[in-house]
Amino acid sequence: MSHWIETGAADDLADGTMKAVAAEGMELLLARVGDSFYAADAHCPHMGGFLPNGHLDGTIVTCPRHGSRFDLTSGKVIRWTNWTGVKLAVGKLLRSPRPLRTYPVRLDEGKVWIELG
Ligand code: FES
Repeated sequence: MSHWIETGAADDLADGTMKAVAAEGMELLLARVGDSFYAADAHCPHMGGFLPNGHLDGTIVTCPRHGSRFDLTSGKVIRWTNWTGVKLAVGKLLRSPRPLRTYPVRLDEGKVWIELG
């Protein structure tokens, strides 16, 4: 069953930054791009890299472990690792590209809410 959780004041997260949010036993990533907020799993679907420690460029987050890139607006894979050649081919066979799970976000009276479930 889906429900909304409050994650704090919108003004606490600067434009172009992201942070980890712990909620109900989950670790989530919360990012701000302008006046828009995006939420996703904090762990990379490749091999669990901690995405809040990665790099944010617009709505694209880059995993700090192997460089996979995901669009936070949809979870779409932009790049599956920064590997090339045989290493990339074998890596895709062992672990096929999969999107990052994202979550709806809304603002209410200056607070950021994420929908879980
Ligand atoms: S764990 Fe994120 S790219 Fe490998």
